[in-house]
Amino acid sequence: MIESKPDPKLLFCRVSGRKTGIHFSWKHDKTDRWTMKEFGSILMQLPLDIDSVKGFLDPEEGAALYRAARSCTQLGVCLEIGSYCGKSAVYIGAACKEQQSLLFTIDHHRGSEENQPGWDYHDADLWQESIGAIDTLPYLRRTLYRAKLEDTVIPIVGRSEIVARHWATPLGFLFIDGGHTREAALTDYGLWHPHLVKGGLLAIHDVFPDPADGGRAPYDIYKLALNSGLFEERQAVKSLRLLQRID
Ligand SMILES: C[S@@+](CC[C@H](N)C(=O)[O-])C[C@H]1O[C@@H](n2cnc3c(N)ncnc32)[C@H](O)[C@@H]1O
Repeated sequence: MIESKPDPKLLFCRVSGRKTGIHFSWKHDKTDRWTMKEFGSILMQLPLDIDSVKGFLDPEEGAALYRAARSCTQLGVCLEIGSYCGKSAVYIGAACKEQQSLLFTIDHHRGSEENQPGWDYHDADLWQESIGAIDTLPYLRRTLYRAKLEDTVIPIVGRSEIVARHWATPLGFLFIDGGHTREAALTDYGLWHPHLVKGGLLAIHDVFPDPADGGRAPYDIYKLALNSGLFEERQAVKSLRLLQRID
Protein backbone atom coordinates (compact mmCIF):
# COMPACT_ATOMS: atom_id res chain seq x y z
CA MET A 1 0.00 0.00 0.00
CA ILE A 2 1.41 3.39 -0.94
CA GLU A 3 1.29 5.73 2.06
CA SER A 4 2.54 8.78 0.24
CA LYS A 5 2.56 9.45 -3.45
CA PRO A 6 6.09 9.77 -4.86
CA ASP A 7 7.00 13.42 -5.15
CA PRO A 8 9.65 14.14 -7.82
CA LYS A 9 11.37 16.59 -5.44
CA LEU A 10 12.01 13.84 -2.92
CA LEU A 11 14.50 11.10 -3.53
CA PHE A 12 12.68 8.59 -1.40
CA CYS A 13 9.04 8.28 -0.42
CA ARG A 14 7.74 5.82 2.10
CA VAL A 15 5.49 2.94 1.24
CA SER A 16 4.81 -0.14 3.28
CA GLY A 17 4.60 -3.80 2.37
CA ARG A 18 1.32 -4.73 4.01
CA LYS A 19 2.08 -8.39 4.52
CA THR A 20 5.71 -8.10 5.53
CA GLY A 21 5.55 -4.82 7.40
CA ILE A 22 8.76 -3.86 5.60
CA HIS A 23 9.12 -0.33 4.35
CA PHE A 24 10.41 0.35 0.89
CA SER A 25 11.82 3.35 -0.88
CA TRP A 26 11.08 4.57 -4.34
CA LYS A 27 13.91 6.00 -6.39
CA HIS A 28 13.11 8.42 -9.14
CA ASP A 29 15.39 7.47 -12.01
CA LYS A 30 14.96 10.76 -13.92
CA THR A 31 12.98 9.10 -16.68
CA ASP A 32 9.69 9.43 -14.81
CA ARG A 33 9.82 5.79 -13.80
CA TRP A 34 9.90 4.82 -10.17
CA THR A 35 11.80 1.83 -8.94
CA MET A 36 11.14 0.21 -5.60
CA LYS A 37 13.92 -0.80 -3.31
CA GLU A 38 13.89 -2.22 0.21
CA PHE A 39 15.20 0.49 2.43
CA GLY A 40 14.48 -0.27 6.08
CA SER A 41 11.92 1.20 8.40
CA ILE A 42 13.08 4.82 8.44
CA LEU A 43 11.54 7.37 6.15
CA MET A 44 14.19 9.47 4.40
CA GLN A 45 13.21 12.57 2.51
CA LEU A 46 15.82 14.61 0.71
CA PRO A 47 14.93 18.22 -0.03
CA LEU A 48 16.41 18.27 -3.54
CA ASP A 49 17.41 16.01 -6.41
CA ILE A 50 20.66 14.66 -4.95
CA ASP A 51 21.97 13.78 -8.41
CA SER A 52 22.09 17.51 -9.15
CA VAL A 53 24.82 17.97 -6.51
CA LYS A 54 28.41 17.35 -7.59
CA GLY A 55 30.15 14.64 -5.59
CA PHE A 56 31.27 11.04 -5.42
CA LEU A 57 29.06 9.63 -2.68
CA ASP A 58 27.01 6.57 -3.58
CA PRO A 59 23.26 6.90 -2.75
CA GLU A 60 23.36 3.79 -0.54
CA GLU A 61 26.26 5.25 1.40
CA GLY A 62 24.32 8.50 1.66
CA ALA A 63 21.28 6.69 3.04
CA ALA A 64 23.50 4.92 5.59
CA LEU A 65 24.95 8.28 6.66
CA TYR A 66 21.43 9.66 7.05
CA ARG A 67 20.33 6.73 9.23
CA ALA A 68 23.51 6.78 11.29
CA ALA A 69 23.40 10.53 11.95
CA ARG A 70 19.71 10.32 12.81
CA SER A 71 20.42 7.64 15.40
CA CYS A 72 22.91 9.70 17.40
CA THR A 73 21.86 13.35 17.27
CA GLN A 74 20.71 13.13 20.90
CA LEU A 75 24.31 12.43 21.95
CA GLY A 76 25.85 15.55 20.47
CA VAL A 77 26.14 17.58 17.27
CA CYS A 78 27.32 16.08 13.97
CA LEU A 79 30.53 17.05 12.20
CA GLU A 80 31.97 16.14 8.82
CA ILE A 81 35.43 16.73 7.41
CA GLY A 82 35.24 17.24 3.65
CA SER A 83 32.19 19.22 2.50
CA TYR A 84 33.14 19.50 -1.21
CA CYS A 85 29.86 20.64 -2.87
CA GLY A 86 27.59 19.38 -0.10
CA LYS A 87 26.40 15.94 -1.21
CA SER A 88 27.01 14.11 2.08
CA ALA A 89 25.98 17.28 3.96
CA VAL A 90 22.50 17.01 2.44
CA TYR A 91 22.04 13.44 3.71
CA ILE A 92 23.42 14.16 7.20
CA GLY A 93 21.82 17.60 7.29
CA ALA A 94 18.39 16.19 6.43
CA ALA A 95 18.69 13.86 9.45
CA CYS A 96 19.84 16.74 11.67
CA LYS A 97 16.99 18.99 10.57
CA GLU A 98 14.43 16.34 11.47
CA GLN A 99 15.99 15.99 14.89
CA GLN A 100 16.54 19.74 15.44
CA SER A 101 20.27 19.13 15.60
CA LEU A 102 23.23 20.65 13.71
CA LEU A 103 25.89 19.52 11.29
CA PHE A 104 29.20 21.39 11.15
CA THR A 105 30.95 20.77 7.84
CA ILE A 106 34.64 21.61 7.45
CA ASP A 107 36.54 22.20 4.22
CA HIS A 108 39.23 24.62 3.02
CA HIS A 109 37.43 24.41 -0.35
CA ARG A 110 40.65 24.22 -2.36
CA GLY A 111 40.16 20.54 -3.14
CA SER A 112 42.19 17.49 -2.22
CA GLU A 113 45.23 16.28 -4.14
CA GLU A 114 43.08 14.18 -6.51
CA ASN A 115 40.89 17.22 -7.34
CA GLN A 116 43.76 19.30 -8.70
CA PRO A 117 44.26 19.87 -12.46
CA GLY A 118 45.68 16.81 -14.17
CA TRP A 119 44.35 14.36 -11.54
CA ASP A 120 41.53 11.83 -11.98
CA TYR A 121 38.94 13.68 -9.90
CA HIS A 122 39.52 17.19 -11.26
CA ASP A 123 36.35 19.06 -12.27
CA ALA A 124 37.13 22.09 -14.46
CA ASP A 125 33.84 23.79 -13.38
CA LEU A 126 35.31 24.27 -9.92
CA TRP A 127 38.48 26.02 -11.13
CA GLN A 128 38.58 29.78 -10.44
CA GLU A 129 40.82 31.34 -13.06
CA SER A 130 41.07 34.64 -11.16
CA ILE A 131 42.79 33.01 -8.17
CA GLY A 132 44.35 30.02 -9.94
CA ALA A 133 42.72 27.58 -7.54
CA ILE A 134 39.66 25.43 -6.95
CA ASP A 135 36.79 26.98 -5.01
CA THR A 136 33.97 24.65 -3.98
CA LEU A 137 32.46 27.02 -1.39
CA PRO A 138 29.96 28.69 -3.79
CA TYR A 139 28.73 25.21 -4.78
CA LEU A 140 28.32 24.18 -1.15
CA ARG A 141 26.42 27.38 -0.34
CA ARG A 142 24.14 26.91 -3.33
CA THR A 143 23.43 23.30 -2.33
CA LEU A 144 22.53 24.31 1.23
CA TYR A 145 20.36 27.16 -0.03
CA ARG A 146 18.49 24.88 -2.46
CA ALA A 147 18.09 22.23 0.24
CA LYS A 148 16.82 24.77 2.79
CA LEU A 149 19.52 23.57 5.15
CA GLU A 150 21.26 26.87 5.84
CA ASP A 151 20.11 26.92 9.48
CA THR A 152 21.07 23.28 10.02
CA VAL A 153 24.36 22.75 8.18
CA ILE A 154 27.04 25.21 9.27
CA PRO A 155 30.07 25.47 6.96
CA ILE A 156 33.46 26.03 8.54
CA VAL A 157 36.00 27.22 5.96
CA GLY A 158 39.50 26.17 6.94
CA ARG A 159 41.92 23.32 7.37
CA SER A 160 40.47 20.59 9.57
CA GLU A 161 43.67 20.33 11.63
CA ILE A 162 43.50 24.04 12.55
CA VAL A 163 39.80 23.91 13.43
CA ALA A 164 40.34 20.73 15.50
CA ARG A 165 42.84 22.45 17.76
CA HIS A 166 40.17 24.96 18.82
CA TRP A 167 37.18 22.63 18.96
CA ALA A 168 35.46 21.92 22.28
CA THR A 169 31.90 20.72 21.51
CA PRO A 170 31.07 17.02 22.07
CA LEU A 171 30.18 15.14 18.89
CA GLY A 172 27.50 12.46 18.51
CA PHE A 173 28.48 11.71 14.92
CA LEU A 174 31.77 12.22 13.08
CA PHE A 175 32.25 11.67 9.34
CA ILE A 176 35.83 11.63 8.01
CA ASP A 177 35.96 12.31 4.26
CA GLY A 178 38.66 14.96 3.91
CA GLY A 179 42.22 14.63 2.60
CA HIS A 180 43.03 11.08 1.53
CA THR A 181 46.81 11.18 1.96
CA ARG A 182 48.10 9.06 4.84
CA GLU A 183 49.18 12.15 6.76
CA ALA A 184 45.82 13.91 6.29
CA ALA A 185 43.74 10.87 7.28
CA LEU A 186 45.89 10.10 10.35
CA THR A 187 45.71 13.75 11.42
CA ASP A 188 41.93 13.89 11.03
CA TYR A 189 41.43 10.67 12.95
CA GLY A 190 43.96 11.61 15.65
CA LEU A 191 42.63 15.12 16.25
CA TRP A 192 38.90 14.54 15.86
CA HIS A 193 38.03 11.14 17.37
CA PRO A 194 38.65 12.34 20.95
CA HIS A 195 35.66 14.70 20.52
CA LEU A 196 33.28 11.80 19.79
CA VAL A 197 31.27 10.80 22.87
CA LYS A 198 30.80 7.20 24.02
CA GLY A 199 28.00 5.63 21.99
CA GLY A 200 28.58 8.07 19.11
CA LEU A 201 29.27 6.91 15.56
CA LEU A 202 32.43 7.39 13.52
CA ALA A 203 31.90 7.14 9.75
CA ILE A 204 34.86 6.74 7.40
CA HIS A 205 34.52 6.95 3.63
CA ASP A 206 36.60 5.23 0.92
CA VAL A 207 37.67 2.26 3.04
CA PHE A 208 39.10 -0.29 0.62
CA PRO A 209 40.40 -3.54 2.16
CA ASP A 210 41.80 -4.51 -1.25
CA PRO A 211 44.53 -2.05 -2.31
CA ALA A 212 43.54 -2.67 -5.94
CA ASP A 213 40.25 -0.83 -5.25
CA GLY A 214 41.66 2.44 -3.91
CA GLY A 215 44.03 4.32 -1.62
CA ARG A 216 45.08 2.94 1.79
CA ALA A 217 44.77 5.93 4.09
CA PRO A 218 41.06 5.62 5.03
CA TYR A 219 41.52 1.85 5.48
CA ASP A 220 44.51 2.51 7.75
CA ILE A 221 42.56 4.80 10.07
CA TYR A 222 39.64 2.35 10.07
CA LYS A 223 42.03 -0.39 11.28
CA LEU A 224 43.63 2.00 13.75
CA ALA A 225 40.21 2.81 15.24
CA LEU A 226 39.27 -0.88 15.54
CA ASN A 227 42.64 -1.88 16.98
CA SER A 228 42.49 0.92 19.55
CA GLY A 229 39.72 -0.93 21.42
CA LEU A 230 37.71 2.32 21.43
CA PHE A 231 35.45 1.33 18.53
CA GLU A 232 33.36 -1.58 17.30
CA GLU A 233 32.20 -1.91 13.72
CA ARG A 234 28.44 -1.54 13.29
CA GLN A 235 27.92 -1.43 9.51
CA ALA A 236 29.69 -1.57 6.15
CA VAL A 237 27.98 -0.08 3.09
CA LYS A 238 30.13 -0.17 -0.04
CA SER A 239 33.23 1.82 0.95
CA LEU A 240 31.59 3.41 4.00
CA ARG A 241 32.33 2.04 7.48
CA LEU A 242 30.35 2.91 10.59
CA LEU A 243 32.05 2.36 13.94
CA GLN A 244 30.57 2.97 17.35
CA ARG A 245 32.62 4.41 20.16
CA ILE A 246 32.38 1.90 23.01
CA ASP A 247 34.89 3.40 25.45
C1 LIG B 1 36.21 13.57 -1.08
S1 LIG B 1 35.88 15.29 -0.92
C2 LIG B 1 34.49 15.30 0.16
C3 LIG B 1 33.25 14.81 -0.50
C4 LIG B 1 31.96 15.12 0.22
N1 LIG B 1 31.92 14.51 1.55
C5 LIG B 1 30.77 14.68 -0.61
O1 LIG B 1 29.98 13.84 -0.16
O2 LIG B 1 30.62 15.13 -1.73
C6 LIG B 1 37.23 15.78 0.12
C7 LIG B 1 37.19 17.25 0.52
O3 LIG B 1 38.12 17.42 1.59
C8 LIG B 1 38.69 18.69 1.50
N2 LIG B 1 39.95 18.67 2.26
C9 LIG B 1 41.07 17.98 1.99
N3 LIG B 1 41.99 18.18 2.95
C10 LIG B 1 41.42 19.03 3.85
C11 LIG B 1 41.87 19.62 5.08
N4 LIG B 1 43.09 19.39 5.57
N5 LIG B 1 41.03 20.44 5.73
C12 LIG B 1 39.80 20.70 5.25
N6 LIG B 1 39.31 20.16 4.11
C13 LIG B 1 40.12 19.34 3.42
C14 LIG B 1 38.86 18.94 0.03
O4 LIG B 1 38.90 20.33 -0.25
C15 LIG B 1 37.64 18.23 -0.57
O5 LIG B 1 36.60 19.14 -0.85
